[in-house]
Amino acid sequence: MILVTGANGFIGRSLMPQLDQAGIEAKAHHGRINNPLDLREQLAGVDTVIHLAGAESRGRNRLLRHVDIEGTERLIEEARRAAVQRLIVVSRIGANHDALHALLQTKGEVERLVQQSGIPYTILRAATLFGRGDLFTETIVSLAIWTWPIVWMPGGGNILMQPLWVEDFARCLIQSLDRPDLIDKTITVAGEEQLHYRDIVKHALNAANLSRFPLPIPLLILHPVSRALFRWWWRPPITHYFIDRFFVPEVAEYDSVLRNFGFRPARLSENIAYLRRPGLRWRLFRW
Ligand SMILES: NC(=O)c1ccc[n+]([C@@H]2O[C@H](COP(=O)([O-])OP(=O)(O)OC[C@H]3O[C@@H](n4cnc5c(N)ncnc54)[C@H](OP(=O)(O)O)[C@@H]3O)[C@@H](O)[C@H]2O)c1
Repeated sequence: MILVTGANGFIGRSLMPQLDQAGIEAKAHHGRINNPLDLREQLAGVDTVIHLAGAESRGRNRLLRHVDIEGTERLIEEARRAAVQRLIVVSRIGANHDALHALLQTKGEVERLVQQSGIPYTILRAATLFGRGDLFTETIVSLAIWTWPIVWMPGGGNILMQPLWVEDFARCLIQSLDRPDLIDKTITVAGEEQLHYRDIVKHALNAANLSRFPLPIPLLILHPVSRALFRWWWRPPITHYFIDRFFVPEVAEYDSVLRNFGFRPARLSENIAYLRRPGLRWRLFRW
């Protein structure tokens, strides 16, 4: 039996149906990850935990610490008590507890906790994922709708990224379940295309049938501008973690998925038809 934390989040919404299709018995964790009694009850009889719960999308350092770090500590304590045999954890490219940026620092800390847990683990360090319901391509399109006739281009859109399709990432998670060679390994998974942010925006706008003039925004004013606009939003469309991504290229080997999982991930331009659907304008407002 597999327990999936954060199962109703963006990755979880791709993972749960794929587990089901593969005939793998899995249940979603309910309640808060920091509640040990809840965890104890739900971990009974579980041999593998896929840990997706995280507060990245809320954009608050206090929540990130509470959910990602303290929540993972609680999960590890209770998983040890329940004799869980395997932890599969999602991290980010660039995770490092000495990193300058809060998100990468937190992910580095989470990795350290998992690596020292004594429970057999696999950590997948993912690139930014795209797919229906993401907070990446859908935010780009939604924002562009509201900022007609321009589209924001932080730092001129020069940063390099290797976005990975969320369905392919879910496939990697599922394959990890049956791969003893990945036990106690931390591996990176990213898309095969290295794209400048401006090319990603171009693909997204094309898919959504929008035409906008790119307006370069200096990186130094990005944080104050987004704070001024989104500071009080309960679920901000653009968080400072998203903005931090414009300062550090998010790249890995081109063949990380092929080498580790034996298949070639989908290309961005071929898998963003979901940006064509109506109603994306309201995607900025999440609750
Ligand atoms: N999306 C990406 O591009 C990407 C790339 C690399 C790594 N990651 C990491 O992968 C993980 C999942 O990402 P995602 O995109 O699926 O995030 P997401 O859509 O924001 O989902 C996060 C999930 O965590 C749950 N959660 C938040 N606080 C919780 C708490 N206190 N107790 C229990 N559950 C809680 C949420 O449930 P509620 O909605 O009920 O609060 C939600 O189901 C995160 O750690 C993220 O940092 C994501």
